[in-house]
Amino acid sequence: MGSQENPLPASYQYRPLDYRRDIQEGWWVVKKYNCMGCHQLIPGQRTSLMSMTRYQGPDGQEQLPPKLLTEGARVDPDWLLRFLRNPSLSDKDTNRNGVRTYLQVHMPTFSFSENELGKLVRFFQALARQPFPYIPEEVPVLTAKETEMARSLFSSTARAVLEMPCHRRSGSRPHRPPPPTSCKPADV
Ligand code: HEC
Repeated sequence: MGSQENPLPASYQYRPLDYRRDIQEGWWVVKKYNCMGCHQLIPGQRTSLMSMTRYQGPDGQEQLPPKLLTEGARVDPDWLLRFLRNPSLSDKDTNRNGVRTYLQVHMPTFSFSENELGKLVRFFQALARQPFPYIPEEVPVLTAKETEMARSLFSSTARAVLEMPCHRRSGSRPHRPPPPTSCKPADV
């Protein structure tokens, strides 16, 4: 991965120092490994598994991985660290779920870095502190096509239309009333 330096001066960056920072940092780890494909982390969020046929109906729903909304409040951080490192909670039989052995789907062993493990544990603890988790908003990125469309809107035709006297907001050019014939649909 390349450098993730933020070009903004430090004073302009959002760097919450309290538990919100733990949520923000943990959130990137959660995104990186797509934990939300299997786990519900936000109220109302649907996981990929939830829409699969085999997880429909009451029996199917019992086979879903646990929701993690209140994980930090339910479990001890040391236990959580141990679980994330080795979800089988066993040295011998690592191909199993350490807690819900009856589930078909397994919690993967991700081989997190120590740094990521710390972020995840703090993330769950911080998440449990608030009734509604704060999740940083995703900044929508324009596709190349959208960028092109946006650009052309401000050049060529569209610009000509916007500059027609009848399209100026009234009051912006009080001394130049629109000529009455310039705005027939045929002109546009
Ligand atoms: C392929 C589906 C899947 C993915 C992806 C997944 N998990 Fe899990 N996870 C599970 C299953 C299944 C369990 C139940 C394991 C058990 O009970 O032993 C579980 C259990 C957990 C638990 C323990 C819940 C408890 O209290 O018993 C935590 C914490 C957890 N996952 C965190 C994560 C995080 C963090 C990620 C992303 C880095 C992640 N999971 C990704 C399937 C998944």
